[in-house]
Amino acid sequence: MAEISWELMEQQVAACRMCGLCQGIHHKVPGQGDRHSPLMFIGEGPGQVEDEQGLAFVGPAGQLLTRMLLAIDLPRDRVYICNVVKCRPPNNRVPLPEEAAACMLHLRMQVALLRPRVIVLLGSTAAKNTLGEEIRITRDRGKWFQRKGVWMMPTYHPSALLRDVSKKRDAWEDMQSLRDKLMELGLYPDIYQE
Ligand code: URA
Repeated sequence: MAEISWELMEQQVAACRMCGLCQGIHHKVPGQGDRHSPLMFIGEGPGQVEDEQGLAFVGPAGQLLTRMLLAIDLPRDRVYICNVVKCRPPNNRVPLPEEAAACMLHLRMQVALLRPRVIVLLGSTAAKNTLGEEIRITRDRGKWFQRKGVWMMPTYHPSALLRDVSKKRDAWEDMQSLRDKLMELGLYPDIYQE
């Protein structure tokens, strides 16, 4: 069996025809960022700007994510960012369970390659597809779950924050909790020296 590599992952995403989402897209969006990062963000799926550029979280939600990271002193290029599905669903609808399941192969490969210590799950689709269907984002956001030694926290998707500013207070608490976790684990010592 071929050894897995980032190049293989990208080739696999490029060649993938495992569901219908790739019909009518402009670009696949595998994800990008620091491939040595201890911290991974998982969103739902590419939106219009991401589909145009082939990059994850570069539209309005992505710009908000960049600001949220900066609020805890993390430059965006120090984290790895990807999505549950790598192709834009039509009209930004939520990916169907079978589409998310088909794309899970790629996400698993990304987790295996990155071996993150901490994963932040942006919104319900990311949370349900990793932690389980029983997760409710309003109830479970900000809670820490440990899976196979990896710390995982669901929080609101930045698009939800753009739609409903009243959620920003909770999202800010979640970012503080993320910073606390990174400090507790001794990650990013150049940023979080005490
Ligand atoms: N929303 C997502 O879930 N992912 C993106 O890449 C952009 C918007």
